Amino acid sequence: MNPPRAPRSLWRHARIASFDGDRPWGWLDDGALLVEGDRIAWVGPDAALPSERLTGGGPLDEIDLGGALLTPGLIDAHTHLVYAGDRAAEFEQRLQGASYEQIARAGGGIRSTVAATRAADDEALFTLAAARARALMAEGVTTIEVKSGYGLNERDEARCLAVARRLGRELPVAVRTTSLGAHALPPEFEGRADDYIAEVCRWLPGQQAAGLVDAVDAFCDTIGFTPAQTRRVFDAARALGLPVKLHAEQLSDQGGAALAAGYRALSCDHLEHLSPAGIAAMQAAGTVAMLLPGAYYFLRDTTLPPVAALRATGVPMALASDHNPGSSPCLSLLLMLNMGCTIFRLTPEEAWRGVTVHAARALGLGDRGRIAAGLRADFVVWDAGHPRELCYRFGHNPLRRRLFGGMPD
Ligand code: NIG
Ligand code: FE
Repeated sequence: MNPPRAPRSLWRHARIASFDGDRPWGWLDDGALLVEGDRIAWVGPDAALPSERLTGGGPLDEIDLGGALLTPGLIDAHTHLVYAGDRAAEFEQRLQGASYEQIARAGGGIRSTVAATRAADDEALFTLAAARARALMAEGVTTIEVKSGYGLNERDEARCLAVARRLGRELPVAVRTTSLGAHALPPEFEGRADDYIAEVCRWLPGQQAAGLVDAVDAFCDTIGFTPAQTRRVFDAARALGLPVKLHAEQLSDQGGAALAAGYRALSCDHLEHLSPAGIAAMQAAGTVAMLLPGAYYFLRDTTLPPVAALRATGVPMALASDHNPGSSPCLSLLLMLNMGCTIFRLTPEEAWRGVTVHAARALGLGDRGRIAAGLRADFVVWDAGHPRELCYRFGHNPLRRRLFGGMPD
């Protein structure tokens, strides 16, 4: 019996923003893309299609895109997708003048989401997280990073990571998991943050052995953990060979970015209070700056991340939704493209690289984020002529087709 043939498809007459090579946008004006199985087999000018690649390889589905835009699938490289409850009442309190820090110090904030998450069963957590993932996917997202951090004990952290893994098994989307036990101090450890950090470090080998964790994160800030505590978590990650990333310099400058760069962190995230020394350390370590305009906007922050200095230093910038119930209850990566430009002053091309090639790098993934032969066939066809149109419009989703590993939705 013949082995089953991988599906093959040929996408012709597309405007392709490949983000590959040296050309701006990696642009191809009249491009073609050959997909074999879950990989991109060939991409180039339509006029240069290699005819020998088109015959003999099994049935070929040919689609004329008539000049529509084709881009890599979007990558949301920073989300807290698994949790129960909401923080709408806290939003109201903040509108009346309470600050995010005040609410957190009074036992609300992350802790209120922890209580709701612990009380929810696995099925409820999965149903909630799957609906959020589907909303992101409906705008062209094909890879999502999902952090734990609302369980804050051994059992509930593992449950949340397992729910994230299940999303990747049951939905047509790739999921990367990040263990964020060091997100906030749970109430049962009040006044004993060092003891809690010892617990977080103790859980990691079990999470890794169960295949639940791809990276380790912490929240290094005045309402999170100190640099010394962050180091202990990173030392435990390093001992297991797990890469690290850090919520750094969101509310104050703790020197977290330089600390994380010392561990060759994949990314430092938020960065509103990033110092020149932090930028230099990130540049030297090749660490990605993960910019999160949703949290900046929703917390009505007034200190912008140092985008011009990051650009001048050549630190790669990524852009993500930071979806979470407290600081960014946002399920639109397309809106982040717009806010990255309007609020953070990224160029449209920088914003796009931030949700594709640089987002892939922030997850340590070299097989996606660009349109190039050999990479995963994760791509999107848009009812648009140029990617800058998706930065310009907001509250608008021109998605025509989403392909995940060569398979259409
Ligand atoms: O990325 N800064 C810490 N963590 C989240 C917020 C979590 C929450 O408020 O629930 C963030 O902004
Ligand atoms: Fe976050």
